Amino acid sequence: MSAMRISFLSGVLLWAVAGCASSVEGTGVTPETKSANSESITNPAIDARVQQLLGSMTLEQKVAQMIQGEIKHVTPDDVRRYGIGSVLNGGGSFPDNNKHATIADWVNLADAYREASLDTSQGTAGIPLIWGTDAVHGHNNVIGATLFPHNIGLGAANDPQLISRIGAATAKEVAATGIDWIFAPTVAVVLDDRWGRTYEGYSDRPEIVKSYSGVIVEALQEQGLLATAKHFIGDGGTAQGIDQGDTRVDLDELLAIHGQGYYSALEVGVKSVMASFNSWNGDKIHGNKTLLNDVLKDQLGFDGFVISDWNGVGQVEGCTNGNCAQAINAGMDMIMAPEDWRELLQNTIAQVRSGEISEARIDDAVTRILRTKLAIGLFEAPLPSVRAANHTASIGSDPHREIAREAVRKSLVLLKNNESVLPLAPNQTILVAGAGADSIEMQTGGWTISWQGTGNSNSDFPGAVSVFGGLQQAAAASGGKAILSVDGSFAEQPDVAVVVFGETPYAEGQGDVQSLAWQSDSHGDLKLIQQLKAQGIPVVAVLLTGRPLWLNPHINAADAFVVAWLPGSEGKGVADVLVADADGKPRYDFTGRLSFDWPNKDLNADDPALPVSDLLFEYGYGLDYASSAAPLRVLDETPVGKAVDLDRKIFSGGSKEPWREYLGDADNWKILAEGSIASTSKGQLVMKAVDRYVQEDARQITWSGDGSVTSQLYWQSNAPVDLSELHAAGGVLSMVLQLEEAPAGAVMLRMDCEYPCTGALDVSTMLRDRAIGEWQRVSIPLDCFAAAGADFKRITTPFLLATDSALSLRISEISLLTQAPAMTLVSCPVIE
Ligand code: BGC
Ligand code: BGC
Repeated sequence: MSAMRISFLSGVLLWAVAGCASSVEGTGVTPETKSANSESITNPAIDARVQQLLGSMTLEQKVAQMIQGEIKHVTPDDVRRYGIGSVLNGGGSFPDNNKHATIADWVNLADAYREASLDTSQGTAGIPLIWGTDAVHGHNNVIGATLFPHNIGLGAANDPQLISRIGAATAKEVAATGIDWIFAPTVAVVLDDRWGRTYEGYSDRPEIVKSYSGVIVEALQEQGLLATAKHFIGDGGTAQGIDQGDTRVDLDELLAIHGQGYYSALEVGVKSVMASFNSWNGDKIHGNKTLLNDVLKDQLGFDGFVISDWNGVGQVEGCTNGNCAQAINAGMDMIMAPEDWRELLQNTIAQVRSGEISEARIDDAVTRILRTKLAIGLFEAPLPSVRAANHTASIGSDPHREIAREAVRKSLVLLKNNESVLPLAPNQTILVAGAGADSIEMQTGGWTISWQGTGNSNSDFPGAVSVFGGLQQAAAASGGKAILSVDGSFAEQPDVAVVVFGETPYAEGQGDVQSLAWQSDSHGDLKLIQQLKAQGIPVVAVLLTGRPLWLNPHINAADAFVVAWLPGSEGKGVADVLVADADGKPRYDFTGRLSFDWPNKDLNADDPALPVSDLLFEYGYGLDYASSAAPLRVLDETPVGKAVDLDRKIFSGGSKEPWREYLGDADNWKILAEGSIASTSKGQLVMKAVDRYVQEDARQITWSGDGSVTSQLYWQSNAPVDLSELHAAGGVLSMVLQLEEAPAGAVMLRMDCEYPCTGALDVSTMLRDRAIGEWQRVSIPLDCFAAAGADFKRITTPFLLATDSALSLRISEISLLTQAPAMTLVSCPVIE
């Protein structure tokens, strides 16, 4: 790695400067637009080698270097035949599509790709392929890997030296699987916490992002891997926090705010930058030459290569996923074309032949790719299995888990500790309640084994410890005990309760929310806290979350309130700080401080399109055991949003809180249907996550019953939701669907009000009337369900579809609306 050895950026800014920097209006940003002028990785030997290679390559061979496919769609034989330069595994993609692939499976596949890439027998250039993966909080696609807190927690930990150790540990675990390239760090500066990728960012302050970005890049690259600063540029600045949306600022502000992470990454020689899905003032960045070429390469002096994001080129006007001269002409060097890589290869070659893309542009792109491959030593490197062997023991190793546990401790932010209920005294009985108490899935969040982080159970995390598991051990060590009770019920009166609650996993797109309110429909978590308090039990709330949320009622209700973010696999780190030693002294103090402002409202009262500006706690806030002695005042509990908007989504891109998706038949009525695929016990109903506009934003639901077994798909909340106002306002259940196969028998659409309370409609005729293969919206008056028996004061299941016969359809949205969109209203289907 000596060729990449770079000056270390030590002058970190962190909290200290927050108050004193002269800032861009309202952002706390010190403007800095100077060129980052990264030290060149090139040395004369590498340059000469690149020139010699380039001179010997055909056009086909060169373009092939610019292509990256996905491991589900690229076999080693494809690599042997086409000589493509790179593969990636997307979130939730594994060797042989096997979630439980072993380390040996990963390494064997890496060997097979490498050997195929070096094989010139079919006319390829024999250049080693590079494999990239999203190791964004540890090597998160691999079962058994250490899972570090997501970046939002690391931002709160405010410890660049810790970040560096996390980077090194992550890189070693990735190297242990034979993979060379990490699509991290995300250096987004998150300005609207409604964005579903908020947790991938370190902070809403550019200086924090800047101070971390270089450190993590250096740590990853020092281990001989390639790091990626992503997503260039403005991903965290889109209007309303909409994923892949539009960032509307001028160039100076774009760089001053969203460019900071790139300055420090470039300073330490980051060698790949991923382009962002978002637009800049209406233009997709994937096709924007000003930014990719003029700013990033010319002005900032970036000498590595730019990689596009997943099918991002297909979003450029006039392009498809397999055809986009615009992106290459704009400066894209390597194109992530997971499925359509073959088509892209052929089209790009043809576009060079026709002159639509200049050969000079291709040479520039390939020079950058080859230079990087040489600089990280990929040419000389032995087989992945040989390299990996040094690191095999590092996957989920004790020293790595120790680093992760330390990071958890340091990331916890204490917002309230009235009556000094924390630290939990020794010899107590601690009731551990809440949906997050024993859910490693919830504490690891998105980008964990699967793309969305859903579909996982505790057994998918060998070696990991839940928050409850950590509390149990710590309590026992100080002479007490912890009892798990998710719903908060108990036989033996506890001395204190810890309620662990918060967001269920989500990733890109599916994690966007319209307001920062939490469970404004069902208030299940709030009721749990209040219920325990009503029984005279002091309550410590521990929040698992990927973003700051508006939780004033919850903070009021609890005696102590701890934000644990998405801590990852080492739940013990929570107990380290919460549970006192046998003498009643804290074992660790709270050192985490908010790296994001914390909202005092759910929405911006002046303009809901803007981020919340009324703040409860500002960036840098966080109590410790000494400072928390002064009690927190009672907070205002009036939300901005609630009364205004009765409309709510049940499913749109993903399931919307408080609803979760289930399926079932008589063998098991309630199987959580998250993850990319799920089916009923008898297998007569299969749900697949499919793409309509973006990845996995729709559901394909296929019944294959023969009339003997009823299977159902539904969305349900834990606690009943009062929808009577919406009903009274003339509301409808509105869904966007595409019929694939008309129903062969009766189909029931139900709304349940704590089953067996229900309102069921036979919608088979309504469905048979629909055109096959067309996306269409259908809205059914809530009155129809009320007439069939639904009680809108206590809806648990706002949508349930059941049949015992064949039926296949796709759904991309299910909503409850006050008004049916034009032309979509149907009259009441036959009432059973
Ligand atoms: C994400 C990137 C990620 C890529 C590959 C995209 O959808 O935006 O952050 O690196 O997928 O998984
Ligand atoms: C099942 C219940 C289930 C409900 C979901 C019914 O058909 O019998 O067990 O909870 O569906 O709404």
